[in-house]
Amino acid sequence: MEKKASGPFRCLVTGAAGFVGSHLCERLLALGHTVAGVDNFFSGRRENLDTFAGHPRFFFYERSITEPGLLEDLHAAHGPFHTVFHLAAIVSVPYSVEHPEETHHVNELATVRLLKDAERLGIPSFVFAGSAAEYGMQDRMPLRESDAGEWTRWLSPYGEAKYRATMAVASRRSRPRGVSLRCFNIYGPRQDPSSPYSGVISRFVDMAVAGRPLTIFGDGLQTRDFVFVDDVVEAYRQAAGLADESGNGPCGIYNVGSGRPRTIVDLARLICRLTERPESITFCAERPGDIRHSTASIDAISRDLGWVPRIGLEEGLRRTIQWMRSAAQIPGVKASSDGNGSK
Ligand code: UD1
Repeated sequence: MEKKASGPFRCLVTGAAGFVGSHLCERLLALGHTVAGVDNFFSGRRENLDTFAGHPRFFFYERSITEPGLLEDLHAAHGPFHTVFHLAAIVSVPYSVEHPEETHHVNELATVRLLKDAERLGIPSFVFAGSAAEYGMQDRMPLRESDAGEWTRWLSPYGEAKYRATMAVASRRSRPRGVSLRCFNIYGPRQDPSSPYSGVISRFVDMAVAGRPLTIFGDGLQTRDFVFVDDVVEAYRQAAGLADESGNGPCGIYNVGSGRPRTIVDLARLICRLTERPESITFCAERPGDIRHSTASIDAISRDLGWVPRIGLEEGLRRTIQWMRSAAQIPGVKASSDGNGSK
């Protein structure tokens, strides 16, 4: 049964022009909430704001989350906020490897400062974009929330910074109540396919729609856990307590995934079928540093929030393909930066 919506509330979304952030803003506005959005367009894209930029309850600020005083300013202008949704980050794993200090500042220290500001301002809820990358290299699947710790072998500064920020957020019990959502491989409309490190679904759909062969790195038997962006947005809403009459929610760490492993080769075949292309797949060298398997346990979020993914892979792919086909008609929409919001 659909939980009763509460509010309306005022919310802050950092990373509003990102792949996931833009979907979150759109949904919050549709539910009647007021949204202040922040993005510095480091990886976010202006066209992601197109469908709601002119909404009377949306207020956009082109600012960086590293600026001291950001939350105070926006709270004074548009608060009091019920929730800070903190999604802005350096999202590119390879970029984090080349810029570890910057990643530490943006993904960890800026989060801790926003959390302290939220405490000073008495904001009830703080929901953070954690990541499956916090688990680093692991053998046992599915991954449970307790499987990341100081012992973890992180594969990148991105994974380590997200872990440390998650621990700071999830230790908050009230004002703000902290939740970190460790999202697995998110996909859907607006995900940018243009970099070799973009999410595999955005790349495969882009290749299939363009009539090019799909390129698999390695033998294709590696697995990932794919979750559609609308399901992720619903997890954010529930984590903030916005799906609950009281406006209250949980605190802690929750995986957000499908709970189902999929091989990359099966994914490629499915995309060929759904785009009605002949099966045209090429295999090339494995990507250095790739993990072999990644699957979420979603027991905790199902138990505590009643959240389960609603959009199956086939339906999510159909929606992504439809968007990619329409985006391909609009000049400029697909040309872009390397950020993709996933993981
Ligand atoms: C994630 C990051 C990636 C990072 C890696 C490090 C995202 C979207 N990706 O990768 O930047 O380097 O963690 O752990 O956040 N694949 C293909 N063909 C393609 C693209 C990908 O076969 O054209 C394969 C990859 O080799 C991988 C799988 O598909 O085995 C999934 O790739 P990806 O979507 O990048 O996700 P992660 O591997 O989880």
